[in-house]
Amino acid sequence: MLTAITREVSSSINRCELTHSPREPISLDLARQQHRAYEDTLARFGCEIVRLPEEPDLPDAVFVEDTAVVLGDLAIITRPGAESRRAETESVAEVLRTYRELAYIEEPGTLDGGDVLHVGARVYVGLSERTNRAGAEQLRRLLLPKGYAVTPVEVQDCLHLKSSAALVTACILLVNPDCVDVDAFSGLSFITVDPAEPRAATALRIGGDVICPAHNPRTVEKLLEHRIRVTTVDVSELAKAEAGVTCMSIILTG
Ligand code: GLY
Repeated sequence: MLTAITREVSSSINRCELTHSPREPISLDLARQQHRAYEDTLARFGCEIVRLPEEPDLPDAVFVEDTAVVLGDLAIITRPGAESRRAETESVAEVLRTYRELAYIEEPGTLDGGDVLHVGARVYVGLSERTNRAGAEQLRRLLLPKGYAVTPVEVQDCLHLKSSAALVTACILLVNPDCVDVDAFSGLSFITVDPAEPRAATALRIGGDVICPAHNPRTVEKLLEHRIRVTTVDVSELAKAEAGVTCMSIILTG
């Protein structure tokens, strides 16, 4: 059984944090429409959707992935790197405590869930503008007793590790090698994004498929050439707020 925790797009999304994209007007109606279609796609893959209400004063609150890292029976509530996002964690923790044991990243650590990529028992954590070494070290200490090994990875020129690296099969990573050094990942094969689509290394593995943004058709074509089953979603409006496809849900298994 799969549960996807999501949150309605904030009416203040035009005030979202931006790190690498220019600010463009975002249509709230279209963003909400695309978000519903994204939820519908998750539902088609068997997820029960638990949608949190809008947080009107927290522009980035739709990006729930950044607020928690769920592995096994543990949900680690993060301390987001952007101060404007710190208040997003409280309501997510309230929901997660009904499903999992909670632990917390604490000051001076910062960690965004978008920087955490797990490949089996190996957890890569991006050192980014949002996640610092103290946050990565706290994550390591919390996950060690649960059998996970944490490896920090430097990322550059992108928001999160998962803006530049996405697992598309059990052993293939879709990457933008300009943002992350592929040598940091051991035992994996790589597909690189099409050079015309530098933000295309985002994918959500679910039910034997990968969900990818429809606005990166060349990279999707590459995945199809590798016989990877792809479902596309139109998240072009949300991408103006630097959305990928993992960041708008927290998927719980079992
Ligand atoms: N707008 C997404 C973020 O910066 O966290």
